[in-house]
Parts: sequence; C-alpha cells; structure tokens
Amino acid sequence: MAKVLVTRKIPGNGVKILQDAGYEVEVGQQDSPMERAELLQKVVGCDGVLTQLQDKVDEEFIKAAGSNLKVVANFAVGFDNFKMEDIQNHNLAATNTPDVLTEAVAEHTFALIFAITRRVVEADIIAHKQSQAFGPEVLLGMELKGKTLGVLGLGRIGGRVAEIGKCMGMNVIYYDVKQNSEFEQKVGAAFKAVPEDLLKEADVVSVHVPLLDSTKHLMNAERLGMMKNTAYLVNTSRGPVVDEAALTQALKDHVIAGAALDVFENEPKLAPGLESLMNIVVTPHIASATIEARSAMGELAAKNIMAVLNGEPPLTPVHK
Ligand code: DGY
Repeated sequence: MAKVLVTRKIPGNGVKILQDAGYEVEVGQQDSPMERAELLQKVVGCDGVLTQLQDKVDEEFIKAAGSNLKVVANFAVGFDNFKMEDIQNHNLAATNTPDVLTEAVAEHTFALIFAITRRVVEADIIAHKQSQAFGPEVLLGMELKGKTLGVLGLGRIGGRVAEIGKCMGMNVIYYDVKQNSEFEQKVGAAFKAVPEDLLKEADVVSVHVPLLDSTKHLMNAERLGMMKNTAYLVNTSRGPVVDEAALTQALKDHVIAGAALDVFENEPKLAPGLESLMNIVVTPHIASATIEARSAMGELAAKNIMAVLNGEPPLTPVHK
C-alpha cells in the first residue's frame, strides 16, 4: 500500500481523497509547520508527500524519504520551498496549486489596498477608544477611482488584480518579463518595459512576482525612492521580494505614503521598527485563506499525488 504524508492538517476533502484512494495516509497533527527533524523522520518510506510552503524539499529531504518517493505536492501556488534541481535530479514529480486560489489572493490584495488607502486599521483602533467623532480632516485617505494601479508581475493573480482594478475605475499599468498584448486589449492595461517606469507613475504598486534570485529585494531602497511620496506598496507574493529594512526606513521618512504586506521576509517576524508604524497594514500570510481556496488547494494537491501514484501525469506540475 502506497504511503502518503500530509505534513499539516488541511481543510476540505484532500485527506479523504487520499484515504479513499486506498493509501496509508499520515497527517501532521500540530497547528504549526512540522519541525525539520520530525519531517525527515516522517517522510521515510513515503511514496508521496503533501507539503506546506515551510517544508523545504531538498536533497536531504529526498534522501530521508528514500527510493519510494515519487511526488511532492505543494499546498501553495508558490514553490520556492522546492529545490527544483534536487527534485529533478531524482526524477520526482513536483506540483503546486494554481488557479484555485487566484480569486482569494486577488480579493485579499484589494482588502489590503482598501485597508491602507482608507486607513481602516488606524481608524478601527481610534474608534475603539470612543473619543473621535466626525471631523472634516480626520483620517483622510485616497480614493482609487481615476488613480493608477501598477501591477508588478502579470501572472494569474496579477492579472486578476488588474481586472479588479479596472472595475474600480483605475488606470492599470503592468510590468512583466513578458508583454501580454492580448491581456492589454482585453483589460485595457498598459505595459511598462521596466519596473522603474511603473514605479514612477503608479499610485498603488501591487507585487505579484514569484520569489527568484532575480526578484529578491526587487523593491529595494532605490526603487522605493522612485515611487511617488503619495503612493502605496502592497505585497501578497513573497516577503523577500521587498527589502523590509529599506521599506521601514521609507515609511519612517515618508518616502511613500504607506504599505500593506501579507508576506514578510522572516515570517512571522517583521523587520525591527515596522511593527510600531501606523502607515503600514500587515496580515499573516492569509491571502489565500478562504474556505473555498484552501479546500480546493488541498483537493488539487491530493489529486496530483493520486495521478502520479497511478502512473499518470500530474494535473499541475512545476518545473525549474
Ligand atoms: C501560495 O499559494 O503560494 C501562497 O503563498 C499560500 O497560499
């Protein structure tokens, strides 16, 4: 009987799908990522592993699992926890969960955009103190209609954020390594050949690039300095894409108006000084945290494992 490890409890039918397929399924029981030592011990003899983005899949992991291992299925669209070179050297299948979380992440991106531009969190704290009434100049924010949304990275999520921005009456500009003329025509978005051109124009910059060597600290002090001092930065991609120390300084110096982050460089920690600033809104990596998305992610990951263990191609493979 094939053995599958699900490294942490997941919502929806993912585990049931694997059990109904007749596999011996072990599910991590803690409400936190599995400790490395435990993970390396639990993967021994597994044919498939349903991993979380904190589970590093590398040579050590693959060696610990042993020769039965055929597939690692990430419970995430991002797979920067996969060392693809090691995975491919061992001819293992690797999969992610695209599409099923696009709407959830795009909607959360807008939750953050509204929260920071309309100062919702700051207002909530003040209102709880019950000392502030209506005032002509109290908690003024920025309207989105007619403003420019700059989307850095036009993948599925960036594309959906661009569409929602358009519905909000925003002008949409985007940067991506590849121009997408069809999308431009469909949505009415304008391509910028370099990120710098986008940063100078946008009132809201929303980051949707994967974490790669080339995107680490893409938003550094220099690029933050190119943004308008009235503009906002939003990141729902991966924390290390933004240099958090540089962002902290930029927010302190009012180089930009504000920021909203769902992902941090060293989760769950924030860069020193960031936690006490009022011109930032932070959420703990919950952009895909809807019942719909998280259930579908678990089910897709389970189906990927089943496909590979049945000798079929995975539904949503990832490559280097
Ligand atoms: C992902 O899928 O990569 C998110 O970061 C977690 O849902």
